[in-house]
Amino acid sequence: MAALCSCCYWIGMALAALLCLRLACGLLCALWTFGLARLLRFGADFSSCGRWAVITGATDGIGKAYAIELARKGKDIVLISRSQEKLSKVALEIADQFHVVTKTIAVDFSNVEGIYSTIADAIKGLDIGILVNNVGTSHTYPEYFLDIADLNNVIPHMINVNIFSVVKMTQLVLPGMVERSRGIIINIASATALIPCSLLSLYSASKAYVDFFSRALDTEYRSRGIIVQSVLPFFVVTNMSRIKKASLDKPDPGTYAQAALATVGLRSRTCGYLPHSIMGWIITTILPSFATEKILLENNKLIRARYLKKKAQ
Ligand SMILES: NC(=O)c1ccc[n+]([C@@H]2O[C@H](COP(=O)([O-])OP(=O)(O)OC[C@H]3O[C@@H](n4cnc5c(N)ncnc54)[C@H](OP(=O)(O)O)[C@@H]3O)[C@@H](O)[C@H]2O)c1
Repeated sequence: MAALCSCCYWIGMALAALLCLRLACGLLCALWTFGLARLLRFGADFSSCGRWAVITGATDGIGKAYAIELARKGKDIVLISRSQEKLSKVALEIADQFHVVTKTIAVDFSNVEGIYSTIADAIKGLDIGILVNNVGTSHTYPEYFLDIADLNNVIPHMINVNIFSVVKMTQLVLPGMVERSRGIIINIASATALIPCSLLSLYSASKAYVDFFSRALDTEYRSRGIIVQSVLPFFVVTNMSRIKKASLDKPDPGTYAQAALATVGLRSRTCGYLPHSIMGWIITTILPSFATEKILLENNKLIRARYLKKKAQ
């Protein structure tokens, strides 16, 4: 009995030590990425990576914020979204404020027919240093897969916008980067790719695809001078999240994009913003995945119930 107690004691101590070590590693890594490395300017050199930055979903939210931050760094900007009116307005805003050249391409990424030849023609011959695959769409509210309204259309819509756009834009832009042996591809996935997210199954899985694609590509092309970064944000104040007020854990898109851009070249996979990285680290390292999956399910059930109740009133 005494031997069993002593054995349990040492196993407990070893597990506690392992947890402390993981805690310390996580903390040091965060301090480096969001503190020291930023101060010492250890991140990617945006000035030498090419003249143009291409951003999909660039007229609102996170995409617009990346466009602004890259223009602030002196990049000429190609903005891609659906509405020409919004594109022209944002392009003018950016050109006026940062004295850079802007170009717009109005396409709907939910259609695959013909849009990629339109984009290829519009970006032909440009020295593209940065591609931000940001465009994305989510569910109106958390719902059981089979109960999603208009599921027949939602499936191709989500796959075309969230997955197909990332792969096709990469196919269009990467050859030029490889030829010049320099370039940065930033793929905006989501924290829902960190752990399977019930009642947001299509969205969560589409973002896991983006995350895996980015990580594999980064390993494939790193030795050829290309950086591919997977970005996994939690909530950011945008139309998509329907969050209106910024707080420490729900930043405005400008704060988010600034923080995330500073991690390029330091982290190939990041939640992009210190509070989000801490949250990501807790749900992937500290909590067991079955517990996180259960918490997410219960939380999404609550959001679903609230949404349906409001809709019924
Ligand atoms: N906001 C968050 O809390 C959050 C969290 C995690 C991950 N993300 C990811 O971050 C990315 C940006 O999200 P956001 O919240 O910034 O979105 P947002 O504010 O809704 O902006 C979406 C942008 O994409 C464009 N767009 C939407 N559908 C399009 C389509 N079918 N074809 C072409 N352009 C389209 C919109 O412009 P038009 O309407 O003019 O086309 C707009 O410029 C997404 O990939 C999203 O999954 C967001």
